[in-house]
Parts: sequence; structure tokens; C-alpha cells
Amino acid sequence: MKILIINGPNLNMLGKRDSKIYGDKSLEQITSLLGKKAQKLGLEIASFQNNSEGKLIDFIQEQSRSSDGIIINPGALTHYGLSLRDALIDSQLPIIEVHLSNIYCREEWRAKSVIAPIAQGQISGLGWKGYIVALEMLASELKEET
Ligand code: DQA
Repeated sequence: MKILIINGPNLNMLGKRDSKIYGDKSLEQITSLLGKKAQKLGLEIASFQNNSEGKLIDFIQEQSRSSDGIIINPGALTHYGLSLRDALIDSQLPIIEVHLSNIYCREEWRAKSVIAPIAQGQISGLGWKGYIVALEMLASELKEET
């Protein structure tokens, strides 16, 4: 079973971005930890990061038919990315939204997610471990289904 791990704008800067908010791990380090976890869970992952909404949509359209779930940190697109939201709906896959920081205790505009209403759930504020929790959750759900 294959899970897509998608990261939106500016998440390529993890490790260099404000570490008090986003932690000190780079996206490469987080992706490698996810790879190890996926192996233990018997899952395949395909990771993708891009700073453009259109590129994220292209990836979802190309990959969704051959995938079983999506873990996505949409970055700032969380708050206004309606085309991304539509692509996620069209994928018909279970979606878990992840944020490193707690978007509910920062600026007011960050507390609104246009993705949350179409996601199975959201993990916010657990740092990089949020991605691991999301992977464990999808693995257990998919196992129950089979
Ligand atoms: C973020 C929160 C967003 O508000 C912000 O624009 C990001 C990262 C997070 O992981 O905490 O780029 O999605």
C-alpha cells in the first residue's frame, strides 16, 4: 500500500526556518524518518514537496489512482488553497492534514484551514512527530479495511 507525503510552500526550508516554531529537523531528515517508519509498517511512501500549488495538484492527479492515502502539510495553502482542496477531494483518498506548529495559537488567520473540512483528521502542533502519528493512523486504518 502506498501513502503520499505532500509538503507545500516553504517546507523545503525546514531546519533553516524559525526553529522555535518549526523545529530543527530538515525536510530530508523528516522524510528519512518517515521512510524508516513506513518500512516497519509495511507501507510504501512517495514524498513530494513543491512551492507551487499547481505542481502539488499535478502530483496528486498523477499519483492518486495508484495510492491509498495522503498525508499533507499544505503550508500557507492551508489557509486559502481552494484548487488544492479540490484536487484532494477528487483523489477520493483518505487525507490527514499535518502541521508542525499549532495553527490555533498563532496569528488569527492561521486558525482557518480550507483543507480541514475535507480531511479525515488534522494533527497540529506535534512537530515532525505529527507526520509519524499520521502514518501510524493510516496504516492501522488500511489494515482494518483489508
Ligand atoms: C504550517 C503552518 C502554516 O500556517 C504555515 O504557513 C506553514 C507551516 C505548519 O506546519 O505549522 O508554512 O503548515
